[in-house]
Amino acid sequence: MKQEQAIIREHRAFGCGYRLLVFDCQPIAAAALPGQFVHLRVPGLDGSVLRRPFSIYRADGACLSILYKQVGKGTREMAALPVGQAVSLLGPLGNGFPMPTGQAVPVLVAGGYGVAPLCLLASRMATTGILFVGGRTAADILCIEDFERLGWDVCVATEDGSLGTKGRVTDALDPWLAERCRQAAPPPVFYCCGPDGLLRAIDVRAVKGGWLGWLSLDKHMGCGVGACLACVQRVRVKDGGSQWKRVCKEGPVFEAGEIFWDYGVKADNA
Ligand SMILES: Cc1cc2nc3c(=O)[nH]c(=O)nc-3n(C[C@H](O)[C@H](O)[C@H](O)COP(=O)(O)OP(=O)(O)OC[C@H]3O[C@@H](n4cnc5c(N)ncnc54)[C@H](O)[C@@H]3O)c2cc1C
Ligand code: FES
Repeated sequence: MKQEQAIIREHRAFGCGYRLLVFDCQPIAAAALPGQFVHLRVPGLDGSVLRRPFSIYRADGACLSILYKQVGKGTREMAALPVGQAVSLLGPLGNGFPMPTGQAVPVLVAGGYGVAPLCLLASRMATTGILFVGGRTAADILCIEDFERLGWDVCVATEDGSLGTKGRVTDALDPWLAERCRQAAPPPVFYCCGPDGLLRAIDVRAVKGGWLGWLSLDKHMGCGVGACLACVQRVRVKDGGSQWKRVCKEGPVFEAGEIFWDYGVKADNA
């Protein structure tokens, strides 16, 4: 983990209400693994010492990129940052996604900014697979050209039916899984990043099917480095008990079957 003064090289609207921020930051870019994140101190944010976590979308050579949406005071302030500004970044943080092994077919499942870490993952895999991505409407679907350029199959679902399958992302995934089971095709290995309902839906499917799955959790964070316990998540351990793990340090990626979901988290189309 490094703390760097990264210089903004590019900053622009990206589409779907997201903005792209590209930093010159060779030390963090060179060390970044898919699924890891950076903790960014927003310059000029009065009275706030807390950093904001963002998944690494791209890490090529000296450049590191994130995609973000304005949801509150930090991200609103970020939107005004000019090219050339120095920004303090901590990273790369977290564990990242393990690469697939054997015959398993990578099945990436994304909602919202969840496509960002999955883009980096797809670009680093030795094999291609399929991306399932969902949103409310066509305008919410980000980055599918990135995956298509890499030779991945892409399957979109929108709740209003404006693009791809009408419904949730699981409405597109479930028939695909059923067909593969019917053909006795090699098993899927899931990689999922998105809202809790989607993560839980993939968790349920992976456990039920006896398949491997990796879920990237989004928790509100404080320090980002394992010191404050703001981000803890209850997980199952091998003896049948449970323990609390820090999402910033032992996560954000957890294995399917490991998470104890809060009562409030309902799986999408379980
Ligand atoms: C590991 C990780 C990776 C992330 N990657 C990205 C990314 O690639 N792109 C992106 O746009 N966002 C990402 N986020 C979410 C991002 O960190 C928050 O949107 C951001 O911190 C909000 O800051 P703010 O000051 O604008 O919002 P605040 O003013 O602090 O809060 C505004 C609203 O946003 C909500 N909020 C704050 N933090 C989070 C959070 N972690 N998750 C969900 N809602 C939150 C608050 O509850 C509140 O409703 C990630 C979060 C984590 C934990
Ligand atoms: S955010 Fe401080 S321990 Fe995870």
